[in-house]
Amino acid sequence: MKRLVAALANVLDSQWRINNNRSDLILEQTGSSYLEFDQVSFSWPNGVRVLDRCSFSILKPGLWMLVGENGSGKSTLFRLINGVISPNRGKIYCPLKPSMVYQNPDHQLLMPTCKSELMLSIPKTIPYSNQYDLIQAALEKVYLVDMLDRPIHTLSGGQKQRLALAGAIVSKSNLLLLDEPTALLDPQSQNSVLKVVKKLTSSTSDPITAIWVTHRLEELQFCDGAAIVKNGAISSWNSGLKVFQQLKSLALR
Ligand SMILES: Nc1ncnc2c1ncn2[C@@H]1O[C@H](COP(=O)(O)OP(=O)(O)OP(=O)(O)O)[C@@H](O)[C@H]1O
Ligand SMILES: [Mg+2]
Repeated sequence: MKRLVAALANVLDSQWRINNNRSDLILEQTGSSYLEFDQVSFSWPNGVRVLDRCSFSILKPGLWMLVGENGSGKSTLFRLINGVISPNRGKIYCPLKPSMVYQNPDHQLLMPTCKSELMLSIPKTIPYSNQYDLIQAALEKVYLVDMLDRPIHTLSGGQKQRLALAGAIVSKSNLLLLDEPTALLDPQSQNSVLKVVKKLTSSTSDPITAIWVTHRLEELQFCDGAAIVKNGAISSWNSGLKVFQQLKSLALR
């Protein structure tokens, strides 16, 4: 087991070095926040306390990963960010427009075809004459060209997740909240989803912000920063490699 961990750490280390300068830049403060939690506390009505004076901020677009044990509060945190629930105490500053991507796309995709699904996500303010181009451009971004009329039930799991991402794109969302989006996917589909999100968050012209919750620790190598959700709070942001090593050393104790 120790040898496996050391080997994985080496792979991550070599991949991380390539991005190291970029990650350092991304972790440093640049001014106003893209997302900020200020002393946020939240308990469910049944008394389960999930967050306890939790403070953190995201200062730049990028791919930010959150890890933490089952029940540590990651999904609850997403519900607070997208406004489905409100904090009992503290403040959330979120000027971005969030979109959720869930673990199981079958719980999210509602319409019979890719086109009708994406039409559903387009804001009402977009003129009808622009909608087709918007949908085509989104399908291109998620590598689903020529899938316009494809029945959704014929898509693979990875294609469904990428369609959910296309839905976020046409909705003009600039904050993706991805709750274990690859948990049900094979390694190839996992990579295809990671690739799309990485591209959207690192685009030079208009990068978006993504927060990605995962239990699949090998994914940490792709992030611009990672943090651990524990005891009602979030650790400071660190490199994916550091968080990976921290969690592995805890698991070996
Ligand atoms: N609707 C709810 N009502 C009451 N308690 C809830 C509700 N949703 C979640 N909880 C509780 O809040 C705590 C945090 O749950 P949450 O789903 O946010 O954890 P998580 O970190 O996303 O876990 P996992 O990794 O298993 O997805 C748990 O104790 C859970 O039972
Ligand atoms: Mg969860």
